[in-house]
Amino acid sequence: MDRKGRVEDKVALITGVAKPDSIGFATARIFGREGAMLAIVDIAEAVHDCAELLRSEGFTVSSHTADLTRMDQVKVMVDEVLASYGRIDVLVNNAGMVVYGQEEDFTAFQDLSEEAWDFGIAINLKTQFNVTRCVVPGMITRKYGRIVNVSSVTGPVVANPQESAYCAAKAGVLGMTRGVALDVAGHGITVNAVGPGWIATGSQADGEDVGGMNTPLGRSAHPEEVGNVICFLGSDDASYITGQLIVVDGGNTIQEYKGPRELYY
Ligand SMILES: NC(=O)c1ccc[n+]([C@@H]2O[C@H](COP(=O)([O-])OP(=O)(O)OC[C@H]3O[C@@H](n4cnc5c(N)ncnc54)[C@H](O)[C@@H]3O)[C@@H](O)[C@H]2O)c1
Repeated sequence: MDRKGRVEDKVALITGVAKPDSIGFATARIFGREGAMLAIVDIAEAVHDCAELLRSEGFTVSSHTADLTRMDQVKVMVDEVLASYGRIDVLVNNAGMVVYGQEEDFTAFQDLSEEAWDFGIAINLKTQFNVTRCVVPGMITRKYGRIVNVSSVTGPVVANPQESAYCAAKAGVLGMTRGVALDVAGHGITVNAVGPGWIATGSQADGEDVGGMNTPLGRSAHPEEVGNVICFLGSDDASYITGQLIVVDGGNTIQEYKGPRELYY
């Protein structure tokens, strides 16, 4: 007997897919394996290489480039996806943190320029507003939608030094998630957020793996371990969950003791 996937025949738009070792790529692959038709988008042309990789695994994939901080480019991209598939059932707002080919900016708040603040808010929060704003009307018309916003533990739950714009934007993602969840709840649409902790992607900065080793589970997560939760929230298995933040951090933020293990455990 053929087993139906968790998102069988759904059209899933996933943002921020340009590297095979990223959360976005792992998520796209899981959605593909679970039966979805994929549309992937990134600011980087490498999104097309990722689409080829996913097609080689047998998935149906369209790929698109857009700067998601720009509403005009987002409108064109969403129209392209609708022209290909006729609808968007699931939206995963994953793009953010860093632009492909660039380094993440770590600057103490007291030295942060207005431009750097605006950029951090734009790539981490405005991108999610723009894409959601363009996708939601079609979901309302069809009375169905699953929106999953990739936030972080950094911002809504805890903070790291030299990342105040990122913290503010990712906390803003959770606030937006709750607000939109209420506005669209009567239209068959759920909106949730995922809060990853230390994740072993290609973007993991030096020393962040040490953070992973000090979690209760003793390691960083594989990107697939975030993608699995995103896929669950994007599926009908999560039909009665909305406005929530699901933390995927190996128990890191629930441990009170932060000192050396040998002195306490
Ligand atoms: N890696 C981690 O440890 C971690 C932890 C918590 C949250 N996250 C979040 O997970 C998401 C994915 O992160 P990742 O680690 O896979 O990194 P990644 O760098 O592989 O993915 C981010 C992608 O977003 C794209 N992007 C950025 N700005 C864009 C724009 N304006 N328009 C279009 N595309 C744009 C980048 O080009 C990149 O390909 C991010 O939102 C990040 O904040 C990651």
